[in-house]
Amino acid sequence: MQRLNGRRVLLGITAGIAAYKAVEVARLLVKDGAEVQVVMTPAAASFIGPLTLQAVTGRPVRDTLFDPQHEAAMGHIELARWADVILVAPATADFLARLAVGMADDLLSTLCLASTVRLLLAPSMNQAMWRNAATRSNVEQLVSRGTTLLGPDDGEQACGDTGPGRMLEPPVIASALCDLLGAGRLTGRRVVLTAGPTREALDPVRFLGNRSSGKMGFALAQALAAQGAEVVLISGPVALPTPGAVRRIDVESAEQMRDAVFTSLPDTAIFISCAAVADFRPCETRAKKIKKTQENLTLELVRNPDILGEVSALPRRPFCVGFAAETEDVAAYAEQKRRAKGLEMIAANQVSASSGIETDDNALLVIWDGGRQALSRQPKTRLAAQLVDLIADRFDAQTATKDS
Ligand code: CTP
Repeated sequence: MQRLNGRRVLLGITAGIAAYKAVEVARLLVKDGAEVQVVMTPAAASFIGPLTLQAVTGRPVRDTLFDPQHEAAMGHIELARWADVILVAPATADFLARLAVGMADDLLSTLCLASTVRLLLAPSMNQAMWRNAATRSNVEQLVSRGTTLLGPDDGEQACGDTGPGRMLEPPVIASALCDLLGAGRLTGRRVVLTAGPTREALDPVRFLGNRSSGKMGFALAQALAAQGAEVVLISGPVALPTPGAVRRIDVESAEQMRDAVFTSLPDTAIFISCAAVADFRPCETRAKKIKKTQENLTLELVRNPDILGEVSALPRRPFCVGFAAETEDVAAYAEQKRRAKGLEMIAANQVSASSGIETDDNALLVIWDGGRQALSRQPKTRLAAQLVDLIADRFDAQTATKDS
């Protein structure tokens, strides 16, 4: 089994003698199904040739922060978003120190700073450098911020010393990464998720739409995949890259979204309806462009299917999570909606000019039968991880009740 199927690993290589072992780390990750993008610090190229890593991973190595050619293809911020996980192997004492103070003076340190995904470091250095109080304090700081340390090992070193500081062997590093990525709370569960707006065509060039950017739904898709779920993301038209290990189906209208949802539903454990589905569509879509021949134009609209309502009404239904955007009385309206649609959970937000739709930040009030929790205003990426945790809690509780 390829345990890292579709996972995107950004493999950072810094300038230590163990850099030659990074080739084997890359090979093992690729063998396990991962897409691997190598980023080297400029000095690492003295230890290992970028061409070797390109041959193993099938991707050109990135090593420069301001490379116009690469920036035009995938800019450094885009690269930071691309990754599901960042693994730096080997991570030198100098690199740990630069990370600890938040330096961003080369591509790899900039990516570590710009990314919100899990950061794993496999330290490699002389035993005295590892034991030094400065390194100890840097490591402590990094771990307290959520960085995961893989190793180092204890033993014979390239410099002739013996002690702690050897990089872990490549199979041990690859296995640790598989365990961390594979041990999600939703491993083996299929989740179908809708995101973004819908477009309801008026004629070949015009549509009725809404302001949804899809950011919350895409952040949720990434957080679900990070918990090991098999994610099917059904998205309206948005300008966002697909998160790693997520299957994306693009649709335009509410009716197309409904069809894609129902086609994807078999074996689905959880359905999350995050899309801003248009409640109405034009009664007819004109075959030709509407001309401005008259003073007034009246559009007749018809109700769209309520996708979430229909899924929730199925006899064998998945665990259903809805969203509610409200401008007032958030808790009361959201609970009303949850009951009316028969949902296990609803995530409600107060929409204003500065929060909710189109923004990077959001706050949510999550309500379920017998409980609620407010998630404070924060970037949607972090909010999504917290919401996925709550969904997994309630889903586990429901599964436990059904099994008992
Ligand atoms: N939804 C859906 N299909 C629709 C409309 C909404 O699946 N045709 C889903 C949304 O994705 C969201 C939830 O239903 O999860 C929102 O419920 P709804 O009652 O439609 O909310 P509003 O559109 O905000 O309702 P209202 O305009 O009445 O406040």
